[in-house]
Amino acid sequence: MRRVAVIIGAGPGTGAAIAQRFSATHSILVLSRSLPGSLPKLNLDTPSDRLLAATSDGSNESLKKAFELLSAHWPNSTIDVGVYNTNFSFSPGPFLERTEDQLRTNLESGIVSAFNFSQHIIPHFLANEPNETTRARGTLIFTGATMALRGGAPFSTMAPAMFARRALTQSLAREFGPKGVHVVHAIIDGKIAPPKDSGREMPSEAIDSNDIAQNYLDLVNQRATAWTQELDIRPSDESW
Ligand SMILES: NC(=O)c1ccc[n+]([C@@H]2O[C@H](COP(=O)([O-])OP(=O)(O)OC[C@H]3O[C@@H](n4cnc5c(N)ncnc54)[C@H](OP(=O)(O)O)[C@@H]3O)[C@@H](O)[C@H]2O)c1
Repeated sequence: MRRVAVIIGAGPGTGAAIAQRFSATHSILVLSRSLPGSLPKLNLDTPSDRLLAATSDGSNESLKKAFELLSAHWPNSTIDVGVYNTNFSFSPGPFLERTEDQLRTNLESGIVSAFNFSQHIIPHFLANEPNETTRARGTLIFTGATMALRGGAPFSTMAPAMFARRALTQSLAREFGPKGVHVVHAIIDGKIAPPKDSGREMPSEAIDSNDIAQNYLDLVNQRATAWTQELDIRPSDESW
């Protein structure tokens, strides 16, 4: 049976690393606003019959189309992994200079789309038989950030969305955990290193996105007797 992982927010950094890591066990549907056109930027080394890219901005309409495409492309497959990984256009600054538009844009991508994605993927999980080893019907992982826990002064248009993303994962975990759906919130507590070919300098203390991806794979392989709902990830030399 073909297993499918759906990754929304599949950019060249963490999203691509997650797609690459899961491609050993899964066929991958990658989604973002600029895909499929931006697929070459992801630099994925994945057999073409195991990779599908489609456009989604996290709206219900775009997600409906994406899941219909998936069903038509890989009929009778088992969708058992979802990763919500969308980023923001990073716009820190003094509160009195922030705008309602910036807040609304970030709430849209930070939480409304996460809500929509969950509504589209969880019914697929619930239709699965429990995995023989883990007993999970599906795993849904949300990428978070330090600002999900702490609203730093310049982050007034971003932290509220990340707080809300975290809250959503708690509600989903409590409702769907007993039904076999593993919901996780991963707090990325540090800077993620930019992709190697981005030309941007890599700070020595940056988190390697491949290592985040390995953490996500480990989460999917956890057995249902000992699930993680939340984890934080930082490099050993981060001061925190
Ligand atoms: N970079 C860091 O230092 C850092 C630190 C802590 C936490 N994080 C979190 O880690 C995650 C990954 O960050 P990353 O920097 O490595 O990014 P990435 O995985 O390279 O790319 C994320 C992608 O999300 C897509 N996206 C944004 N809004 C979207 C929407 N509404 N619908 C669908 N796709 C959307 C963007 O592609 P399109 O433009 O094509 O839509 C973007 O390329 C994010 O959740 C971020 O908040 C990052």
